[in-house]
Amino acid sequence: MVDVQAPSLTLGLVGTGVMGRGIAQLAAQAGITVRLFDARPQAAEEARASVASTLEMLVTKGRLSPEEARAATARLEPVPYEASLAGCDVVVEAIVEDLGVKQALFTRLEGIVGPECLLATNTSSLSVTAIASVCERPGRVGGFHFFNPVPLMKVVEVIEGARTEPWVGEALVLLARRLGHRPVRAADTPGFIVNHAGRGFGTEALRILQEGVASFEVIDRVLRDAAGFRMGPFELLDLTGLDVSHPVMESVYEQFYQEPRFRPSYVLRQRLTAGLLGRKSGQGFYSHEGGRPHSVPEPALPKGEQRPVWVAADEPGWREALLAVVRAAGWFPDDGEHPAPESLCLLAPLGRDATTTALALELDPERTVAVDLLFGPERRRTVMTTPVTRPAFLDSALALLGADGTLVARIHDSTGFVAQRVLATVVNIACDIAQQRIASPEDIDAAVTLGLGYPLGPLAWGDALGPRRVLKVLDAIHAASGDPRYRASPWLSRRARLGVSLLTPER
Ligand code: NAI
Repeated sequence: MVDVQAPSLTLGLVGTGVMGRGIAQLAAQAGITVRLFDARPQAAEEARASVASTLEMLVTKGRLSPEEARAATARLEPVPYEASLAGCDVVVEAIVEDLGVKQALFTRLEGIVGPECLLATNTSSLSVTAIASVCERPGRVGGFHFFNPVPLMKVVEVIEGARTEPWVGEALVLLARRLGHRPVRAADTPGFIVNHAGRGFGTEALRILQEGVASFEVIDRVLRDAAGFRMGPFELLDLTGLDVSHPVMESVYEQFYQEPRFRPSYVLRQRLTAGLLGRKSGQGFYSHEGGRPHSVPEPALPKGEQRPVWVAADEPGWREALLAVVRAAGWFPDDGEHPAPESLCLLAPLGRDATTTALALELDPERTVAVDLLFGPERRRTVMTTPVTRPAFLDSALALLGADGTLVARIHDSTGFVAQRVLATVVNIACDIAQQRIASPEDIDAAVTLGLGYPLGPLAWGDALGPRRVLKVLDAIHAASGDPRYRASPWLSRRARLGVSLLTPER
């Protein structure tokens, strides 16, 4: 086994592009000698100069001492030939994402390095098992998947292929820690953890858009302001570029043999074909003239007529929360067993649409408006109508719910609003990653918070919302749509019914 803690550790880095430079910087700062090799002449030299100037910038910002920067730069050794990697303890590959090219490199490397050398690939979408399959000793090959920009994204996925020997995973975990990153261990499966767990956010948002529930801007607003994502799914698609994100969606879907949870959307395929790539092409979902996304202004709330408000809710405490909003606005609750003829029927369903909820309670759907309370009444409120809600009653509801200055978003009828659907999907996919033993619950949450910047790990988030509630949303959408993408993972279903945390591992 390679001693990755050794002060004399020498790491070979093949492919000195965006990722290779980042990994080289981390390694050099961690006291590791790095031999840089790239197929393009001069590329390794350029990488050394680029990392050196990054280190100098860190000195200017006071994050690194001049001596540390000098010492780290001195550890970067551009080499002219692949054969110069002989004697390396570890080789990390960050070349072009092409299976044949990577396999050819690994075959050649085996003829160059010593028998103890660990070979790692930074592939993001290829199978580590497939890359290793051409090697004489596939057991020494592992995945070491960093994120861009490497020094700032403090997580690395350590992937064990079907024939990876246990010492390789152990060594990569220790190496990751030496580089100052949080290692997360994942089985060799499509998307590993982060690109697998990240599927729910965009695909469900696209599904909601495709169903005509709300515009992309409204979906972004709800997920940012109510759920607490840093960026809406359509902002994120624009930032990443459809040329990158849509092929990843298609590839993960196909690699899981058309798993309905990951079904991509024709909306993206068409927009990609049209060249509406996002920020890089100037126009995506948003216009990016001048480099910034242009959003339409928040619509002004109507001056809705004040009327009595009859309230019902699906979850304990929600009715009281809504009544408090009604009273705070100076409006009057209708406390009758049935709503009076001119009362607004304000509902807070969980996992149901406004129509189903109104009919189940034998209410007048023309006077019914629903509001999402899963994320609390303080954040942006999502208001949902039945197909026949009269505009005057919608206006009343908008005026009431916006009276205290809270932002309100209006959507059409949807089983589970916007945020309930997206969160339930995100939590469910994370649960199924745990169920498939791809990674431990802790590693799933760490990978997603560090790799995707979600405010909470998806399992902890499911706990915060309540596993029973998340299950209820999924079961209801599954029953209403018949679409197997909404079937609950056994991991979620069992823990929700047992009343235990989604982070509970199998004993
Ligand atoms: P890049 O295009 O910036 O750099 C690739 C480098 O590899 C280039 O300098 C190229 O000259 C060199 N190269 C190509 N074939 C070679 C060969 N046979 N031998 C030696 N050098 C060769 O690419 P980037 O973005 O750094 O990606 C590298 C790898 O990292 C890919 O496998 C990619 O999927 C993966 N990755 C990329 C991420 C990103 O956000 N860019 C994130 C995580 C992983």
